[in-house]
Amino acid sequence: MCGIVGYIGNRKASEVLIKGLKRLEYRGYDSAGIALCNNNSCQIYKCKGKVQDLEKLLQDKNAEGSIGIGHTRWATHGEPNDVNAHPHTSMRGNFIIIHNGIIENYSKLKAGLEEEGYVFKGETDTEVLANLFEYVYLNHLNNGDKISPEDIIRETLQMVEGAYGLVILCNDYPDFMIAARKGSPLVIGIGKDEYFVASDATPIIEYTNSVIYLNDDDIAIISRSSLNLTNLKNMKKKPDIQKIDLKIDEIEKGGFDHYMLKEIYEQPRAIRDTCRGRLDFRSKSIHLGGLHNIFDKLAGAKRIIIVACGTSWHAGLVGEYLFEEFARIPTEVEYASEFRYRNPIINKDDIVIAISQSGETADTLAAVQMAKNAGAIVIGICNVVGASIPRETIAGVYTHAGPEIGVASTKAFTAQITVLTMMAMAVGLANKGLTEKEFSQLVDELYIIPEKIEEILERSECIRDISEKIKDVSNSIYLGRGYLYPVALEGALKLKEISYIHAEGYPAAEMKHGPIALIDEKMPVIVIATKDNSYDKIVSNIQEVKARKGVIIAVVTEGDVTIKSIADYVIEVPKTDFALAPLLTVIPLQLLSYYIATMRGCNVDQPRNLAKSVTVE
Ligand code: M6R
Repeated sequence: MCGIVGYIGNRKASEVLIKGLKRLEYRGYDSAGIALCNNNSCQIYKCKGKVQDLEKLLQDKNAEGSIGIGHTRWATHGEPNDVNAHPHTSMRGNFIIIHNGIIENYSKLKAGLEEEGYVFKGETDTEVLANLFEYVYLNHLNNGDKISPEDIIRETLQMVEGAYGLVILCNDYPDFMIAARKGSPLVIGIGKDEYFVASDATPIIEYTNSVIYLNDDDIAIISRSSLNLTNLKNMKKKPDIQKIDLKIDEIEKGGFDHYMLKEIYEQPRAIRDTCRGRLDFRSKSIHLGGLHNIFDKLAGAKRIIIVACGTSWHAGLVGEYLFEEFARIPTEVEYASEFRYRNPIINKDDIVIAISQSGETADTLAAVQMAKNAGAIVIGICNVVGASIPRETIAGVYTHAGPEIGVASTKAFTAQITVLTMMAMAVGLANKGLTEKEFSQLVDELYIIPEKIEEILERSECIRDISEKIKDVSNSIYLGRGYLYPVALEGALKLKEISYIHAEGYPAAEMKHGPIALIDEKMPVIVIATKDNSYDKIVSNIQEVKARKGVIIAVVTEGDVTIKSIADYVIEVPKTDFALAPLLTVIPLQLLSYYIATMRGCNVDQPRNLAKSVTVE
């Protein structure tokens, strides 16, 4: 979603900001802008569209200044246009701000300000906040109060309900900027006589690896030479300076046409990294250090509830099959957005697992809070180190997929399933859901999954050919059973989000309860049908589609002759254990979506209307 970058130092701020905004493009946005301060005056440049459009706007301008803030906006309040783009200036020009998050009581605050004579240019909640800062500031000034801009920010933010990651410039105090966080992440990079602020570390890492992650209610006053950290209650805080281990090549395309393709190809490496130090092939054991403190409670749990959104929710569905089969623990998977609002029953001895690539998804984060408040033990499975979900959970396991820039999640999904598999296996061994022999066979099989993914990636040409054949369809259906049903859902999500082709995923047996009415010779039906205990059943489902002239694209186990003789196209994947099949079968579906979308001329890395990390409800 929206991206923030701020700079104070001795470099040309416009260059740092534009470069930073480009690094944040992956988050999804529809307008961009910067404010540059030079010799006590600040200029704002902003427009609807991409950072490239903003660059064009800057071409003939004197974009000087070594202090500045920049923003990419994903519209919530008010359409994407030049006026609603950030930064926003208060009516009399005292404050310039950029903001991620939502001010929930903005209409009430706006009405109050209008009564005081404030006139608004646009429709955003952020402009309301800029004017509120100014209103509070001028009131104090008129009363002759001696009050610092930091106190103004603190006082104003007490009036605000909602979430914010904010960077604020104050015209009367041109040598510093203020950053404040509640519910929307901000990270500060520390250089020599310079500081960087950003909504995630990607714009910062080429300058410094020393960072401070702000916590909720933190307020940082940043000048070229100092950083002063306090909180909303005006308590002084000691900054916790951390080193980040993120390399610039990890966030670049590395010779691939798109981040998504790079990330699909990174999956063997991502799974190896996720297993490294945890899955011990020689001693046939699994060590998950991040679960050490609660492992006995997890193994003894009466119930597991998994909360997540989107692709992470699909990984959770695979987790349900894994925990029930390996560990015999009843498991429920909930959309975080439904869970948080429907007064769910949460018992003290329930284990809640929150899955999130970004660790910042607003609904998942709220579900975590709710489960914590109800006394449950909450575990996080997250990709972004230091994100809010790992910080809010008592235990957890990081997926080591590396930065995922493409909006469509690929390597994060397979890394999440890898973590869930290891967790379910470890618990299954501990509570005797799995025998030692079964466990050891699974260790062997999981260990060689990356090699098997490499084999599938080598066959991408065949998937490209199939994509060419079906790229012009308007609708599609994905079918799977058991472990492969969540894969069908994920395949359909991938296709719809990047190619804009309508795609639905179903458990294959459900087809005859309705969706079969859609089948005709124009309908491609993608069936995930590797050899498992429901193989014969899914062969029957394929026959049912064929009888109605549907076009079958089947993902099958190498050497399958039965489905090959019925299907229009087949994609083979190596044989593996039933429970690990999602890790292989999703790969061709990711490639299929990628090729179809690129053939249709879609922007696969930044699909329309989507954001990488959904930090609003
Ligand atoms: O960062 P999270 O895993 O919490 O994000 C959840 C969803 O927003 C995300 O998986 C989304 O569905 C992706 N666009 C899927 O490709």
